[in-house]
Amino acid sequence: MLDAVFRLLSPKQIRSIVSALDTPQIALWAGAVSSGKTIASLLAFLIAVARAPDHGLVVVVGRTLQTIERNLIDPLQSSHLFGPFAAQVHHTTGSTTATIFGRTVHLVGASDVRAEARIRGATIVLAYVDEATLVPQSFWMMLLSRLRVPGAKLLATTNPDGPAHWLRRDFILRAGQVGMRHWHFTLDDNPSLAADYVARLKAQYVGLWHRRFIAGEWCLAQGAVYDMWDPDRHVVPATQIPQIIAWISAGVDYGTTNPFHAGLLGLGADGRLYITREWRYDSKRERRQLTDVEYSERFRGWLGQGERPQYVIVDPSATSFRVQLHHDGVTATLGDNEVLPGIRTTASLLATGRLLVSDACPDVIDEFPGYSWDEKAAELGEDKPIKANDHGLDMVRYAVHTTRAVWQHRLASPVLAAA
Ligand SMILES: Nc1ncnc2c1ncn2[C@@H]1O[C@H](COP(=O)(O)OP(=O)(O)OP(=O)(O)O)[C@@H](O)[C@H]1O
Ligand SMILES: [Mg+2]
Repeated sequence: MLDAVFRLLSPKQIRSIVSALDTPQIALWAGAVSSGKTIASLLAFLIAVARAPDHGLVVVVGRTLQTIERNLIDPLQSSHLFGPFAAQVHHTTGSTTATIFGRTVHLVGASDVRAEARIRGATIVLAYVDEATLVPQSFWMMLLSRLRVPGAKLLATTNPDGPAHWLRRDFILRAGQVGMRHWHFTLDDNPSLAADYVARLKAQYVGLWHRRFIAGEWCLAQGAVYDMWDPDRHVVPATQIPQIIAWISAGVDYGTTNPFHAGLLGLGADGRLYITREWRYDSKRERRQLTDVEYSERFRGWLGQGERPQYVIVDPSATSFRVQLHHDGVTATLGDNEVLPGIRTTASLLATGRLLVSDACPDVIDEFPGYSWDEKAAELGEDKPIKANDHGLDMVRYAVHTTRAVWQHRLASPVLAAA
C-alpha cells in the first residue's frame, strides 16, 4: 500500500519523510512555494500519528482553523494524494478536532487566543505546524515546552523569510543543538508541476518574493522594492491609453505636513490596469496646509473632471478626511494597510506588464525607482520599505491592492518581460 503512495514522491520528498521519522525532536520542511513540502510533511505526519505513543495530545497548528482545513485537512482527505490513508481522516468543517486513524487531533489556530489556551497546559506528543514563520515565536516556544513525553515530535513547514527571522536564527542555524532536521525544497522537488504552471509562478513572484518564494532563499529585504520598474515599459503617453472599460478606483494617500496624493485607476480594453491621472498637494511647496474641508473640496473638484470610479479608497489612517468626504456626499473605503501584500500585488502586476502609468502622472513615476527596502530594519528581522517619497506609491497600493477582487478576473494573461 505504501509502495503505491511512495512511487508518486520525488527523491527529496522520500528522503525527508524517512529522516523526519527519526528526527530527535523537530523536522522542518522549508523552501519555495508549491515545492511539495506540505505533501511530504503530511505523509510523515500520518505515519507519526499512527506510531504516536498513547499518552499526550496530537495537535495541528495553522494561522486559523480555515487555513488548517484548506491547506492540510483537504489534501489529507484526497485519495489521489494519500491513497487509502485518506479514508482514515475524518473532519466536519468548522470543528476544532479531526480524527486520524481513530485518534483525536486538535486543530489550533495560532491567531486564536482561546485556541491557544487549549494547549497551554497540555502534554503534547505530536505537533504539526503549517507556515511556521507566520506563527508567533512565543507560540512556537510554548508548543516546544509542551513536548514532554519521550519521543514527542514537532513537524513544520515554512516558506523562507528574512535571514534574521527567529526560526532561522534560533533553530535552523542551530539545528544540531536544538534537535532539528531540516530540508530545503525547490520547485524541482515537486514531481507534479507542469511547465506552464512553473512559468506562471515565476512570473507572479518577483523581486524579494522571487528570491524567497521561488529560489527559496532566506534573503534580506534590500535594494529597490520595485526593481522590475522600467519607465520604457511601464510609462505610456496619455494619448496611447486604450479605452477604459471600468473606472475601478481613486486612491488617496492623505497628508497635511506630508503631501496629499490622489490618483485614478482604470481597467483598459486591453485587460491592463492604468493609473491615468494624479493630483498632489504638497503643503511644504505651497507653504500652506489645507484643512479637511479644503482637501475634500479640491479632491472632489479633481475627481469631477472625469468619470466616477467605482471606489474611493483612502489612506486607512485618514479617518477624519473620510468623515469629511462622507459629509460632502462621497463614500470612501479605508485602504487595506497590509503594506507587504500591497507591494507584492503591485510588483507582480508590474512584472507581468499589467499595470501601466500614464505620463500625465509625473509625481508617481518619479517615486518608483527610489523606493527602497529598509535594510537596517531587515537586519533586525522586520521587512519594510523606507518611508520617504512614497506618497504616490502608497496611493497606487491603496487603489490597486484594496480593489483586487474587482479587477482580478478581468485582466489579460501575463505579459512576461524578456529575461
Ligand atoms: N508527490 C506528489 N505527487 C502529486 N502531487 C504532488 C506531490 N507533491 C506535491 N504535489 C501537489 O503539488 C502542489 C504543491 O505541493 P505542496 O502543497 O506540498 O507544496 P508546498 O511546498 O507546501 O507549497 P506552499 O509553500 O505553497 O505551501 C499541491 O497541489 C500538491 O498536491
Ligand atoms: Mg504548503
